Amino acid sequence: MSHRNRIEVIHGVNLDQLGRRDPELYGALTFDELQFRIESYANDLDLQVRFFQTNHEGALVEHLHTLEGLTDAIVINPGAWTHYSWAIRDALEICGLPAVEVHLSDVQAREEFRRVSVIADLCVATIKGKGVEGYRDALARCKSELEAAA
Ligand code: DQA
Repeated sequence: MSHRNRIEVIHGVNLDQLGRRDPELYGALTFDELQFRIESYANDLDLQVRFFQTNHEGALVEHLHTLEGLTDAIVINPGAWTHYSWAIRDALEICGLPAVEVHLSDVQAREEFRRVSVIADLCVATIKGKGVEGYRDALARCKSELEAAA
């Protein structure tokens, strides 16, 4: 079996605005800095990352439709869509790849509506409240998932 190490890191709505959002919740890194950090975590773990971000729900759905065969696992922070987008949930299910859900903030400790995730049960793990470090954990979780399935 070939070496499966391709991870698609997907950021949903408003995550491109990091750096302008509340640093107490989301940290002070800009979106570019966040991606740079994720890239270096991936290098340490011998994983190849590709990034996708959109503020358009249909664009994220269509992107998920394209991923089969192009990537081995997904790290996804859908932003506010986490809490209500059944369309993104269905698209994630269709794509059928192992996925890890990540949130920078501790969504369980915030407003009631953020405690619901419509994708959680499709994901092999949910990592929340660890800021950018949560992405390192998510990448490591993808790696162990791919190794276990090899
Ligand atoms: C978020 C949490 C969501 O509730 C929020 O809408 C976001 C970011 C996080 O990373 O903590 O946009 O997904």
